[in-house]
Amino acid sequence: MGGYPSNEKSVAAPCAIIRPGRTNHPEEHSVTARILDGNAFRDQIYAELALEIAALSSAGIRPGLAAVLVGDNAASHLYVKSKMAACQKLGLESFLLTPAATISTAELLAVVDELNRRDDVDGILVQMPLPKQVDSKKILDAVHPDKDVDGFHPINVGHLVAGRPALVACTPSGVMEILRRGGIAIEGANAVVLGRSDIVGKPMALLLMHANATVTVCHSKTKNLPDVVRRADIVVAAMGRAAMVTRDYIRPGAAVIDVGQNVITDRAEAERIFASFPDKLETFAKKGSVLVGDVHPDVAGVAGAFTPVPGGVGPLTIAMLMSNTVKAARQRRANATGAAAARH
Ligand code: GUN
Repeated sequence: MGGYPSNEKSVAAPCAIIRPGRTNHPEEHSVTARILDGNAFRDQIYAELALEIAALSSAGIRPGLAAVLVGDNAASHLYVKSKMAACQKLGLESFLLTPAATISTAELLAVVDELNRRDDVDGILVQMPLPKQVDSKKILDAVHPDKDVDGFHPINVGHLVAGRPALVACTPSGVMEILRRGGIAIEGANAVVLGRSDIVGKPMALLLMHANATVTVCHSKTKNLPDVVRRADIVVAAMGRAAMVTRDYIRPGAAVIDVGQNVITDRAEAERIFASFPDKLETFAKKGSVLVGDVHPDVAGVAGAFTPVPGGVGPLTIAMLMSNTVKAARQRRANATGAAAARH
């Protein structure tokens, strides 16, 4: 696929206005924008899911999520640990399978096949990336669409394209939750999605289009990128380029959703990006690294609302995985009941 490297529901938002806009001067960090607090939205979703999980439990159903984590990728281990912890917090059953990094495609297909057959497994996630010798497409296509809580299977992607009910990829679903719960008007809005990955950019554009936004998808070959982005009422940045979206890209008052999670380990780069953010530079000094999104932090001085990094989109991705697992459990039981009824 060409373009950028792939990286990465309505209640009033808790909105924090910090230091009402005093200046647009670049050296002075001023934040006029409402912060779209991903942790608060995640907590709302967990509270709603807890009610659904309790209702399923009364019917003797405990939704189960199986994670397949191959090899020793440190970031993948961290992600999967967070996913398993979320299951535990919500009282979902979780199963962690950790095949060795040397596993073959055929062996991993057998693992997925076994999970497809298990009745105690409602959702299956195969953490990406997989080792080089494994054919990732074959593995993702082998996950039963009814258990595909990542929303990566072509059947689920096709349902999304057609606007039919489906399990939808977690990060773009999470962005929709942020927009809706944050009170951002989507219908009729000009939305610009930066990045066209299968996991984020493409499903994001479809979800926004189905919600009646006018959607433009930008990529590495887009001409006059800042001009195009400046037309947007809603910007979703998901191209995996640290702090690339600067304040001159943003129409004053626009909602800016930052999907990027870039680890900065270079001191000069950290000092350049976070010149007006001493707390971030302190983090860098302590840890030797600091996280930045695809959006430059100065954008907070011009946007109407924005998601912070960390604490914006990230918490929603896991919340939507939990939501998809509960949904898959409900639908699989409903399908089984329907099929049984049809046989009588
Ligand atoms: N690797 C990075 N993001 C994801 C994700 O959302 N799902 C899976 N399965 N692997 C990933």
